[in-house]
Amino acid sequence: MGPTRVRRNQDADWDAWPVTDYLAENYRRLHPCDIGVIHHHAAVYRHIAPGSLARTLELGAGPNLYPLMLAGAASRRIDALEPSAANLRYLRRQLDGGPDASWQPFYSLCRSLDPALPESSTEALRPVRIVPGGIDDLAPGTYDLASMNFVAESVTEDSAEFTLFCDAFVRAVRPGGRLLAAFMERMPSYRIGEGPVWPACPVDEAALRAVFAPRTTGLRIARVAKDLTLPEYGDTGILLLAAERPDGPPTWPRTPAGAPAPQG
Ligand SMILES: C[S@@+](CC[C@H](N)C(=O)[O-])C[C@H]1O[C@@H](n2cnc3c(N)ncnc32)[C@H](O)[C@@H]1O
Repeated sequence: MGPTRVRRNQDADWDAWPVTDYLAENYRRLHPCDIGVIHHHAAVYRHIAPGSLARTLELGAGPNLYPLMLAGAASRRIDALEPSAANLRYLRRQLDGGPDASWQPFYSLCRSLDPALPESSTEALRPVRIVPGGIDDLAPGTYDLASMNFVAESVTEDSAEFTLFCDAFVRAVRPGGRLLAAFMERMPSYRIGEGPVWPACPVDEAALRAVFAPRTTGLRIARVAKDLTLPEYGDTGILLLAAERPDGPPTWPRTPAGAPAPQG
């Protein structure tokens, strides 16, 4: 048997992302790990003056509404960047018709931790703009804050491409801009329901520090214990990251040592 080929981001059919099964497994009820992520992110947002961020990013938003809700007080415009046709359809329905009732416990927790959020989740989602596209569409220096939840480590098996995703994420904010992220810890490629295997790149705290320490200041990494109420994805928990992009032009290389230079 020959060596197994490493699957890169473009090798997966993101348009066919199994929204219904993904929601059923992860977001139809508030799991302990969501509580951990929401506490972490809300602790950052509640120290940001309401309406003081002109434009923020949710990179690879997927069908997850709570990161968008959390930004709803601080940000005047939230770009939900997402390449998958299936996820875009779900997001449009949620914004047009109001969030599914299953998001209410998520929103209640967000609002209890950040009282600047409005009474209704529909109102909190008002600043969201759905932006079809992916990492290659990001223009450097655009955002005051960028958030990325379960994306860079969950969309490629190639650690060099993981680094490029994180690099574009950092560059997407202006110098001094804030970064917030969540990563599955040590998750191998995974399945949702009985569907296909999606590419993933197992990362631990040391891997995150290796990528983010040269690119950020004030790097903080926290951990949420493995959530046994979720399906077995092979992870060992969740890593949470907060940091800022340093002032001034980037001083770090885009590509990791030995990795091929990005095309284009
Ligand atoms: C594991 S899901 C996470 C979704 C969501 N952020 C969450 O918190 O549940 C990975 C997401 O990354 C998106 N994605 C895949 N390739 C991408 C790319 N090149 N640029 C941006 N997002 C991408 C997928 O469509 C999917 O929505």
